[in-house]
This record gives sequence, structure tokens and C-alpha cells, in this order.
Amino acid sequence: MSDDFLPFSRPSISQAAIDDVVACLKSGWITTGPRVAEFTEALKEYFRAQHVLPLMSATSGLHLALLAMNLEPGDEVITTPLTFAATLNSIVLGGGKPVLVDIDPHTLNMDISQLQDKISDRTRVIIPVHFAGLPVDLDPIYEIANHHGLRVLEDAAHAIGTEYKGKRIGSFGDTQVFSFHPNKNMTTGEGGCVITNDQQLADQVARLRFHGIDRQAWNRYGKSGSQDYEIVLPGYKSNMMDIQAAIGIHQLRELSGFIARRNELAERYQEALSDWPQWNLPQRPAYEHLHSWHLYTPLINEDAAGMNRNEFMLAMKEKNIGTGLHYRAAHLYPYYRQVFGFNPGDFPRAEDVCERIVSLPLFPGMTDADHDRVLDVMYTIFN
Ligand SMILES: Cc1ncc(COP(=O)(O)O)c(C=O)c1O
Repeated sequence: MSDDFLPFSRPSISQAAIDDVVACLKSGWITTGPRVAEFTEALKEYFRAQHVLPLMSATSGLHLALLAMNLEPGDEVITTPLTFAATLNSIVLGGGKPVLVDIDPHTLNMDISQLQDKISDRTRVIIPVHFAGLPVDLDPIYEIANHHGLRVLEDAAHAIGTEYKGKRIGSFGDTQVFSFHPNKNMTTGEGGCVITNDQQLADQVARLRFHGIDRQAWNRYGKSGSQDYEIVLPGYKSNMMDIQAAIGIHQLRELSGFIARRNELAERYQEALSDWPQWNLPQRPAYEHLHSWHLYTPLINEDAAGMNRNEFMLAMKEKNIGTGLHYRAAHLYPYYRQVFGFNPGDFPRAEDVCERIVSLPLFPGMTDADHDRVLDVMYTIFN
């Protein structure tokens, strides 16, 4: 058994992707160009979506999609406290005020039974987060959103490959944002995309991602392109590069295999840990779904474990096994407490989960031997 450090996540990059990155580097065109166009088409086909906008991150996607939703001062955007800070930061940068709904203690997704009470006459957008790759129960969310005339921006950073009631996340609904960060279900290095069937929103995100110009640079400088352009608004610089798309094109082809392996590994944890009193294991909702298992996140039972989550993570690290913390409760960061007045106790379920949650190693290249090693080390730590 190898004692090398086992990270909690590691990207699987094929030789074909590496070769394509090298070919891209040698081609003379490394920023947004033909490979981004090819990746865009491949994603459109994968999602059967009308508009796909690759970007440099999901954070940019959330930010630009919210800007394109034209929030006005005081407008409220509802999300969950169990998310990466990027979700809340994007709400603020997009001009909105974050309003939070506590989580369902079983799925760890937004508790939809509390959503209705949070809707005010200033609510404009709901951002459900498909936490760990488990789809949020979208039917009631869209029902509530349609009833109140609200937009739904799904934070699907964890959820490429996830299915809800037989449909891929991203293939239906209002607007979705996916992440291609290295620890996600597929990667482009850094990267992300916005998916929408809303032409106006797509056009605005396209302008915002590249200086407020609505045509791509390679069109302007290519043989057939025009050099002329207009700036129609002060945009950002969030375009994806061809170097990134060269990786993404191959990752997308391998995605279903990655998801299958993630499912095997998660199932292996569920079986092996089912009678360990130290853990509360991830639970599944009754509605039909395909979990993409971006993360495997049990909750530690401190009494049975004889240690808290942070002590467990440290003990694992000392035994050369990486774990992840997804996440600290977003509302308790100083900025959100000071500016929006959130306090400890506001979202008790999320706060409890955020004290106990751990991401155990899970990535497609993880072998059964790696998995056994994680279980053995946990056993020695607890016994
Ligand atoms: C729930 C969630 N939203 C948004 C993001 C931002 O993704 P990116 O790193 O691609 O900007 C992340 C990244 O970890 C995330 O977990």
C-alpha cells in the first residue's frame, strides 16, 4: 500500500487532452477561438441548450448572469447558506441583497418548505445550489418562481452530469451555471459556463464577458473577420481561452465515465460506513435522480468519534490523506455579518452541518486500493 499523499480530489486528464493542449499552444491561437467554438457546440449538444457561454469561471458566470438580470438597488436574491462564498459574493457584485433559506437536514439542499416565507416584493431571483451534485427538487422551485414571476439561476457548479427526474441539469429550466474548476466533475483548469434558453440574457452575458464587445476577437482578426466593433457597455474580461477548451472538449467526452466511477466510489463508502456510529451518511431524496457525487460529505458524530471535524481532518492529514471542508456557513463570514446583519443561530441546520461536514477523497482516478486505504486509516483514527 502506498503512503503517498492521497488528495481529496484530483483531476483525470487524458493523454488526448494533453496532446490537444500542446497542439493548441503550437497552433498560433491560444485565447478564445476555434477550440472554444468547438467546446461550445459540444456543450450545446450535451445539454440540448440553445445558448452556452463558456467563461473563465463559474464565479464569473454567476456574476455576469446576475448583472444580465438587471437587479435594482434593494432587490433580493434567495439562496442557501451551505454554499461556496462565490454564490453570495456574486449576488452582491451583481447588485443584489442575499436572503438565505436554511437547508433540508437530509439532502443538505435548500429547504423548499421555508422558501415561500422568504419571498418579498423585492425578491427577483432564486439561486438553488445542487449541493455535492445532488439535484435540488426543482419542480416546486420553478412552480414558486413562476407563481411570483421570479428568475431561477441554478448554481450547478457541482452538478454537470447530474439528472433530475430523467433530465440533465442544464437541459431545462431558466439559467444554469457550471464550474470546470479542477476539483469539479470535469475541468478546463479554471473555467465555467452559463447555459440558458433566454436569448436576451445570453446576448448580455456575451457582451459582459468580453469588454462590452459582442463579437469574439478571433472573428475580428481571422481572415474573414472585420476589425471593426462597438463597445455597447463597460464589460469584463471573463472569456475562456482555447487552451482551456482544449482540455474541456476531451473532459466532456469522458464525463459519463467519470460520473459512473464517482457513483461506484460513493456507493462503496455508503456500504462500508453504514454501521459506523462516527458518521451520519449522505441521504438521498425520494424523487428520481442521478447523483453526480461531486463530493462525498458525511457528517461526523463528535461523541462517537471522540473528536470534532477539524481534529478528524488533521488526523487524516497526519496519515497522508487529504479531506475537504465544503463549506463553512456562508452567512457567518465577517463581511456578511457586518453588512447584512447575519448572526450565529440564524440558520441552525446549516450551522450544525457546517461544523460537522467533511469531504472524503473521491475522484475518478481513485483506485479501490486508495479507497480501502481511506477506510483503514479512518478505522485506526477512531479505534
Ligand atoms: C457552489 C459553488 N458555486 C460556485 C463556485 C465557483 O466556481 P468557480 O471556482 O468555477 O468560480 C463553486 C466553486 O467551488 C461552488 O462550489
